[in-house]
Amino acid sequence: MILQSQLPLFPEQASSIARQVDYLYFFLVGISAILSVGIFSTVFYFALRYRRKSEDEIPKPIHGSTLLEITWSVTPLVVTMILFVWGAALYYRMTNAPPNAMQINVVGKQWMWKIQHPTGRREINELHVPVGQPVKLNMISEDVIHSFYIPAFRVKQDVLPGPEYSSVWFEATRTGAYHLFCTEYCGTKHSGMIGKVVVMEPADFEQWLSGVPTGETMEQAGERLFVQYNCNTCHNTSSGARGPLLDGLFGSTVKLTGGGTAVMNEGYVRESILRPAVKIVAGYRPVMPTFQGQISEEAILQLMAYIKSLKAPEGGARKGGEK
Ligand code: CUA
Repeated sequence: MILQSQLPLFPEQASSIARQVDYLYFFLVGISAILSVGIFSTVFYFALRYRRKSEDEIPKPIHGSTLLEITWSVTPLVVTMILFVWGAALYYRMTNAPPNAMQINVVGKQWMWKIQHPTGRREINELHVPVGQPVKLNMISEDVIHSFYIPAFRVKQDVLPGPEYSSVWFEATRTGAYHLFCTEYCGTKHSGMIGKVVVMEPADFEQWLSGVPTGETMEQAGERLFVQYNCNTCHNTSSGARGPLLDGLFGSTVKLTGGGTAVMNEGYVRESILRPAVKIVAGYRPVMPTFQGQISEEAILQLMAYIKSLKAPEGGARKGGEK
């Protein structure tokens, strides 16, 4: 866009959504400018035109004007509806990641961003992504509220310490390095909670991803943790297992003790690990110990990757499928 090369007020547009966000922003600024100019010039004009010209002047009374009233009611209605529909459409697009988006996990903590790729590769305060590929960030905080902001992509999303994971998606449209900021005051070194997003050609990204041998993918790490934390002693196929078998359960709706149902999504899995007694699957007793304070958010994400990978046993019936 010509405007920004001359006016360095705006960060560059480096994502598929950036231009649309800017158009809406310029429209808002334009409307505000027109209104401000219109209102102030009318105020000054009326102040001069209708000022009191003699001590004993009695102004003429004013009676209503239907045309005027309709004009000042309908015009703002039309303008605000345009803004609403435009904004809502853009918001909808920004909040719904395409199904082929690649997922990367982000853990915010005082005062850093910890990134974990599905292959197991990790990085801190840096996020490497391929160009031209939708990327969905699955985000959680280890402590307080942070906010993940990439100005050049025009995306910003709060990162909460649960219960739900928050997410944001983008598709970078040009390679390069871009600023990454925390935009929620989160303590002494909030201003230092910064980093960079490096957008690479897909081939370079693949090379980068395999550059450092990680030993295990997130899924493999999750499988190891599943045994390490003894999850497998209860969540197994043996009769009388104390916990539900997790194979194929992710994404499904489960019945809860005491009535009601819950969708087994990321938030539910995380809550069940940290506060197991909150939502018990019907037919089981609240015997699971809490892992609060004993397991890191990164480890929970690894367990999540493993649990997601567990497929329902052949034949549909969830029993007898030894892991
Ligand atoms: Cu994290 Cu501000």
